Amino acid sequence: MVIKGLKGVAAAETAISHIDGVNGQLIYRGIDAGDLTKNHSFEEVSYLLWHGEWPDQHQLIQLKNELKKQRGLPDYIENLLISLPAEMDFMSVLRTAVSAAGPANKEKPSYSDAIRLTAMMPTIIAYRKSHLEGRAFVRPSAELDHVENYLYMLNGKRPSESQCKALETYMILTMEHGMNASTFSARVTVSTESDIYSAVTSAIGTMKGPLHGGAPSEVIAFLDEAAKSADIEKLIREKLNRGERLMGFGHRVYKTHDPRAVALKTVLLENAGKDAWLDLSMKVETTAVNLLQELKPGRSLYTNVEFYAAAIMKSIQMESELFTPTFTASRVVGWTAHVLEQVENNTIFRPESEYIGRLPVK
Ligand code: CMC
Repeated sequence: MVIKGLKGVAAAETAISHIDGVNGQLIYRGIDAGDLTKNHSFEEVSYLLWHGEWPDQHQLIQLKNELKKQRGLPDYIENLLISLPAEMDFMSVLRTAVSAAGPANKEKPSYSDAIRLTAMMPTIIAYRKSHLEGRAFVRPSAELDHVENYLYMLNGKRPSESQCKALETYMILTMEHGMNASTFSARVTVSTESDIYSAVTSAIGTMKGPLHGGAPSEVIAFLDEAAKSADIEKLIREKLNRGERLMGFGHRVYKTHDPRAVALKTVLLENAGKDAWLDLSMKVETTAVNLLQELKPGRSLYTNVEFYAAAIMKSIQMESELFTPTFTASRVVGWTAHVLEQVENNTIFRPESEYIGRLPVK
């Protein structure tokens, strides 16, 4: 029997994260991911995902220093980033650069590879962006931590504390999400004893598809439409009556509130203060949830991570072409944690297929 899309099939044992779709909980290494965003940094949570425990002070400083050291790109990658055609989308550029950064010879995946891949992702994005805009690249600053430095390289100035907090919360919440398609892809690649750069290259190619890394840009389009509408309820009702899906609502696993959406909304409320876009988002959420309950009874449809990710991106003036690359820059932590877990106790992924073609004529 074929289980299409491997729905409901457990493909690996993992101690990295757990999704409780019924109770709306996402757990990283035994800790509620929503709680993690309150007092922890990108670096601390990365360490937790990679090692299964919190770093002590010394380990944290070591990790921060290592990430800073590994941010620079070799000259040939910088040259590659300016030679790829301007019309090539960001995810394809990222995939190509990561592939080119891999070692000449196959090496066993290591923690230092995970750090280097995580460190270089924002630099690749910012370097390519500055090239496309025809301006000088703002080199990484050794003064700044990972998330702050990313915004600094993109905008050429230090971000405000609230911008930093907004992006850091988003990046922590999207680092890891169980056996999603790109993580599976990374694990399949490394299960052949291939290298970690190949695994992350596969994962980026998988993430690129609209059914997976599907950017919150579609939510922005929906909210832009709502902003222009004189009657939001009528707009949403008509959409639902036409059988359209509301972008940023519903989830395959969560049948209650997506905890990532809840945490993102909380940080927006705490940091953004009075914000027209946030007000609009909350109005659309309330109206849509009520209408979904009325028109799709029993389906348990609430906002998902993409809905408030759109508001986060707006609040830090991130352009929509960078949404999925930024998601990738955080998910690389989860991918590399899974690669390291896979190689610890590896069995090559080699499922069967059910032949439905013709047989030889006797
Ligand atoms: N708007 C309106 N109706 C919806 C929506 C929605 N966003 N999502 C599900 N439904 C309805 C759907 O029409 C169906 O109704 P009926 O039973 O009358 O045909 C019912 O709910 C179940 O739909 P389904 O497609 O079987 O549900 P699913 O669990 O396979 O879909 C989903 C999950 C995310 C693909 C879907 O909810 C959707 O298309 N949402 C909009 C796109 C979106 O926001 N995507 C981002 C998801 S978060 C990504 C991540 O975690 O990384």
